[in-house]
Parts: sequence; C-alpha cells; structure tokens
Amino acid sequence: MTDATKAGFVDFDSHIASAALPDGLREVLQVLARTCAEISDVVADGALAGALGASGQINVQDEEQKKLDVMTNDMLTDALLACPFVAGVASEEMDEVQPAIHPAGQYLVLFDPLDGSSNIDINAPVGTIFSVLASPSPTPTEADFMQPGRAQVASGYALYGAQTMLVLTTGSGVTGFTMAPEGRWLLTHPDIRIPADTREFAINMSNQRHWADGVQRYVTGCLEGADGPRGKNFNMRWVAAMVADVHRILMRGGVFLYPWDRREPEKPGKLRLMYEGNPMALLVEQAGGKATLDGVAPILDVVPERLHQRVPVALGSANEVDQIAAA
Ligand code: AHG
Ligand code: MN
Ligand code: MN
Repeated sequence: MTDATKAGFVDFDSHIASAALPDGLREVLQVLARTCAEISDVVADGALAGALGASGQINVQDEEQKKLDVMTNDMLTDALLACPFVAGVASEEMDEVQPAIHPAGQYLVLFDPLDGSSNIDINAPVGTIFSVLASPSPTPTEADFMQPGRAQVASGYALYGAQTMLVLTTGSGVTGFTMAPEGRWLLTHPDIRIPADTREFAINMSNQRHWADGVQRYVTGCLEGADGPRGKNFNMRWVAAMVADVHRILMRGGVFLYPWDRREPEKPGKLRLMYEGNPMALLVEQAGGKATLDGVAPILDVVPERLHQRVPVALGSANEVDQIAAA
C-alpha cells in the first residue's frame, strides 16, 4: 500500500490522545500497542526467528508452553513493567502476579500473551488478549487483581492474521486498527457493532458427547436448520483461537461457546476468566453483544476467586445468546 493510500487514516496515538482518558492509561495502552506490533513481527518471522515448536515447559494451566508463548510473555512483561504507570502484571503463562518496582504505578495489566497456541505451527491465526484494571495499591498483591470484569478500564486484543489488527475498548464502544508497515496502527474500524441476529455458531463439535443437555439442545436446533425449531439454516466456524473467533463475531455476528463439559466436571470450563473471558466480554458488551457463562449470567459480574480460574463462555449476537439460554 502506498503512503498516499494510507494518508487520511488516524493513527493509534492520535486516536487515544483525543479520547478522554487519564494520561497514565494512555501510556499503558501505547505500550500494549507497541509491544503487540513487535510480537506481530516475531510471529510473522516464524521459523526464521526460531519461534516454532514446543518450549519443553509446562505452565500453571498444566499446558505445554510453545516457544512463542514464552517469548511473547517475556516481551509483554518486560515492556509493561518498564512503564511507570504499571503497578503490576499477571499472565496466563506465569504462576504468580508480578508487582512493578515503580513507586506510583496506577494500573494492573492481565494478558494472554499468545492465544490460539495450537495454531502457531500451522500458520493459522493467533492473537494477544489484554485487560487493564485500576490498581488499588501502588504495591499490589494478588488480591488486588481479583476484581470483576465490570471494573476493567480497558481491554482489547491483537489478531495476527491475514491482516494484523488491534481491537480496543476503553468503556465507550469498540474501535479497530489495522497495522501498516513499521508497526503503525491506523484506525480502520471506528465503531464496531455486533449484529443482534446471526446464522453462525462456533463450538468445538468434537466435544459434543460431553456437553450438558442445554448445550446439546441448542446446537442440535442449529444443526437441524430450516427443518428444525429455529426455522433457519446455520453455518459453523471454529478457528481454535478465541481471538479470531471473537473477531469474526465482532465483524459479522455469530456466537462462540466453550461450555462446561463432563470430562472434568470440577473444571468450570477451558477458558480463563482473567485473561480471556473478561477482556473479551467487555469488548462484546461494548459492541452491543452479550457475553455470558451460560446464555444468562454475564461474565463481567463474576467475582474472581482465583487468578487462574476458568469459566464457561457463551457470547456473541444478543438474540442468539438468548436462544442458548432458552434451549
Ligand atoms: P491458549 O492458546 O491461550 O491456551 O488458548 C486456546 C483456547 C482458545 O483460544 C480457543 O478458543 C480454544 O482454546 C481452542 O480449544 P480447542 O483446542 O478445544 O479447539
Ligand atoms: Mn488463550
Ligand atoms: Mn495463551
């Protein structure tokens, strides 16, 4: 793309400079945007950066870390802890919260540094998800991170896909930026809204036999299409990276489910409340959709009990999420 074509797009810094945000939050978001642009380069280099494959380590989620999980976690941790407005960070890839050494940090940042890790080695979309909270203390402990999603002052994600995009909310709508050369984020999607109705659902169908009865009934109704109770045909998509599946829903509607299932009944779900559920729920609600545990209870109202706790997730087009509840 020529510079002339790109002229006229507002860049990230100008956009957030014009938003009514505290200075410190603006700086934190700039660090996140800059680091996601750097991560995009590492992801794009793939084998050239020696970034493919497993790291040989297991994380606190009891999942095998990919090399890129570790590299991106370190990039975000280092960049955020160097920012004087950050009081501490927490990550899907780290056992414990990391307090900053700054005397006056005001924000806590929680992140999934690389979402969709199983896609890395097959060159399919991956992303970074982040959540920003006000810090109750300049020297935070884990208890200070235990705030419901409703308290988030910002959340967003970067999607390293066919286009590299950054999607952000600071609590008044959702905006999307597309990355131009040299890591410049340009505002291309000023007001993202999720259509209330859809004919598209996303769920890992290979788990069907383990689902609870309500989810079985909902998906069966979709699969029966025009001949079934819903009276319309449905399409199905599953990218296996929540960032990419949620991005599709923000662009054209749909629902995404990762429900509780019977395999490990004591585990509420697969996805993590603090790094996946809450940040995505704020974006979805801010775009006019619904983000729930079960079709009804909002994810953002969950009072966290543990840093790495998991939740069931059912989110997307508002009227379709209601159908999950009614099934
Ligand atoms: P992560 O790579 O951060 O562990 O997250 C993977 C999550 C989520 O992004 C995706 O929706 C889901 O796991 C995919 O699960 P399946 O392996 O069941 O498809
Ligand atoms: Mn993830
Ligand atoms: Mn991850």
